[in-house]
Amino acid sequence: MPEKNTQRGANTVARQPARFKLIDTVRKEEISLDGLQPTQGLTSIDVSPLRPTFQMNAFDPAYKSTSMGLSSKTFIDGEQGILTHGGYRIEDLTDNSNFMEVTYLLREGELPTATQLADFKQDIGENANVPPEVRDYIKSSNPKAKPMATLAAAVSTLAANTNDENPHHIIGQMSTIVANLIRRQQGKEAFLPSNPDLDFAENFLRMAFADDNGHYDANPAIVEAMDKLLILHADHEQNASTTNVRNTRSAGSTMAECIAAGVNTLSGPLHGGANQAVLEQLEMLATADTFLPLETRIERIIARAKDKDDDFRLMGFGHRVYKNRDPRAMVLKKFVDSVLAELDVDDPRLETARRVEKAAAKDEYFTSRGLYPNVDFYSGIIMSALELEPRQFTMIFAAGRVAGWEAQAEELNRDKMAIARPRQTYVGPTERPYIAIEQRGEHNGGPALEEPKELNQS
Ligand code: SDX
Repeated sequence: MPEKNTQRGANTVARQPARFKLIDTVRKEEISLDGLQPTQGLTSIDVSPLRPTFQMNAFDPAYKSTSMGLSSKTFIDGEQGILTHGGYRIEDLTDNSNFMEVTYLLREGELPTATQLADFKQDIGENANVPPEVRDYIKSSNPKAKPMATLAAAVSTLAANTNDENPHHIIGQMSTIVANLIRRQQGKEAFLPSNPDLDFAENFLRMAFADDNGHYDANPAIVEAMDKLLILHADHEQNASTTNVRNTRSAGSTMAECIAAGVNTLSGPLHGGANQAVLEQLEMLATADTFLPLETRIERIIARAKDKDDDFRLMGFGHRVYKNRDPRAMVLKKFVDSVLAELDVDDPRLETARRVEKAAAKDEYFTSRGLYPNVDFYSGIIMSALELEPRQFTMIFAAGRVAGWEAQAEELNRDKMAIARPRQTYVGPTERPYIAIEQRGEHNGGPALEEPKELNQS
């Protein structure tokens, strides 16, 4: 198979000309399509010639079998439960790295030297403060309002009031915004600016939890837990929110505008909002029908999750890509014990979560569909131990994911991808003449034209 390379910016892929043949049995023609050979993962069929060359579309609702472009940031093997950033396993990164280093890796594709990391941290720390309009918005925001919608509004206020052309500065600005929204929602008065002399996670925790005089005694166990949470949420290929960030970037929007789009998508309960929903489900198990043994209550929610007539889902379970274990859930499951022990927190919901996981692991409905705990199943218990409210969990997810959103959006920019504009398979009414309301009688539309009128091409 003759191979040649296709180059998009810094990304290269091996192209296998005419590897695939498609037979159109109606038009009696053979369509020849190239293969694209990734460095890891499944081969792609380049269907981009379908429309210009063969006047046809590819149909793939929710893009379940569609590669939206070249990327070198993150790789997931859903069958093996493997997640790598720039080739490094997530387990190695959470054991040995830190969020600023992983952020650098996502942006640049290589781990930094000590000097590069120091310079990068300094640049992020010194540019993490936000315009006064954002501060005023946060200080006046309704503390009872939905946190993720409030976060999206704060990021849009940043977009409206910044001329900062360095897209990666949004990573520090996001931590300042999220931390001060946490303060506001937990009843604190002062807005605390970023302190570039502190490490990223400690700076974030201090802004979020210091008293109104700025005093905060950093517990190393909490700082380590927050840094790991940010790493585990940093990037994850083309998930729904990253796809929307990239789509928005492809239209030429600013980074803050792109991040606001990502925040709104991430807030959905099927996506980043699941961590809060997991805690709500564990709370429900702990408080509803307590006259029944816990085992029975767990059996009941498992039965509801399997019932096709019930919209109930076992939150924190299942994944579009992982059909085996989500490595992030495994890291969190291992890590939650040490965090709770370090903080001397006894959270009964952890034992309940373990028993739910065990019950599902024995149930063919879950195992046959590859439904196992995902990143959201254990993360909330750790976030609770860090004194975050369940409604604030997804903001922490966003504070980590902003690293991946920014890196992926800049990759798209560098690769000069055209504006994202998918096609459709139209199934609506064919062309028909307008009928004045007086002629309509009891009908609200007219019959279709036998032959649609040719558009006037002049
Ligand atoms: C994140 O994409 C990413 O990478 C996302 C993310 C990231 O880092 O960005 O990993 C973060 O969003 C994690 C997912 C968090 N969401 C949840 O925990 C919500 C609960 N999970 C589900 O809603 C679901 O599993 C999804 C949304 C995560 C995945 O949905 P898919 O891929 O569209 O799978 P599906 O809905 O087609 O399910 C396949 C089958 C169906 O049953 P059948 O039609 O085969 O009979 O599995 C069933 C589903 O009904 N199913 C579940 C289930 N998840 C799937 N049944 C009960 N409970 C569940 N949680």
